[in-house]
Amino acid sequence: MIEKDILDYVGNTPMVRIRMEEFGNINLYAKLEFYNPTGSVKDRAAYYIINKLFNLKEINKDTTLIESSSGNFGIALSAYCRKYGLKFICVVDPHINRINEMLIRCSGAQVIKVTEPDENGGYLLTRIRKVKALQKEIENSYWVNQYGNPYNAEAYSETLAEEILEKMDHLDYIFLGISSGGTITGVSGKIKQKFPDAKVIAVDIVGSVIFGHPPKKRFIPGIGSSMVPDILKSAKIDDVIMMDEVTTIRMCHELVNRYNIFAGGSSGSAYGAIKKYFTEKVPGKEINVVTIFPDRGERYGDTIYNEEWCADFIKNHSELKNL
Ligand SMILES: Cc1ncc(COP(=O)(O)O)c(C=O)c1O
Repeated sequence: MIEKDILDYVGNTPMVRIRMEEFGNINLYAKLEFYNPTGSVKDRAAYYIINKLFNLKEINKDTTLIESSSGNFGIALSAYCRKYGLKFICVVDPHINRINEMLIRCSGAQVIKVTEPDENGGYLLTRIRKVKALQKEIENSYWVNQYGNPYNAEAYSETLAEEILEKMDHLDYIFLGISSGGTITGVSGKIKQKFPDAKVIAVDIVGSVIFGHPPKKRFIPGIGSSMVPDILKSAKIDDVIMMDEVTTIRMCHELVNRYNIFAGGSSGSAYGAIKKYFTEKVPGKEINVVTIFPDRGERYGDTIYNEEWCADFIKNHSELKNL
């Protein structure tokens, strides 16, 4: 008898081989996280966190969940909250892209859009202030707080890392895009338990402050952050590669043109980071490299996969280095 609904099919995503002819010594494997039910790696966190909170009785069926997210986590939480009959308020800002806002609204969340820029000229602090105000106002509410909630990292340690380990007899490197830090914190610890010599490489984007670089306006969502996530403290990171948005766009186009993988921005960043890293550090022997492709390209139809937008963006950001 079939009992599961669509949102129960979280995880167990395909892992595929990417044959990079120019790097004969590298066996590259990518975990295609866009096969998750709402289209991204964030299904894992939403599903896991909600179930964990119910089990620990930190929430009940009358709780209102609140989160600040303009992207995949907002989309995933909207869907999983509806599945479990929870109310969900998603705090967004005017930078949210049209498709993400539509997906969040379609999944039944209440969307609150802050409009006042904060003292840094962005919206992050205004969004957090709004979340805190809502938390005070609404009885029986819970702020998911992906940047500080240890269950975010635990979700990836318990699911994604296990699935990777199941497939790999040996692992030399794993490259992971970073935003809230959940994926890399959860996966890095578990990977190093089995493969202590495996190197974990964080992939961040120019303009993100996570690793102490100066802030700059960013145009491609999903990767990078305007604050340093708390949960990152327990991540085991060996090296960091900073990618720029122009190269990210080019790498997304290369993924679809060479390998038929129509993926989102952070996938292009991770793929580009692998090429950059091993161009500078040519492996002297055959190595196994794993990466994650967190979401699909459709969500970037107004940016990465819009020819006009790309032409303009590349023209106006020629200061960014090409790979
Ligand atoms: C497209 C995409 N890539 C990468 C990430 C990074 O994941 P994490 O927040 O676990 O660091 C996210 C998170 O939202 C994402 O949406």
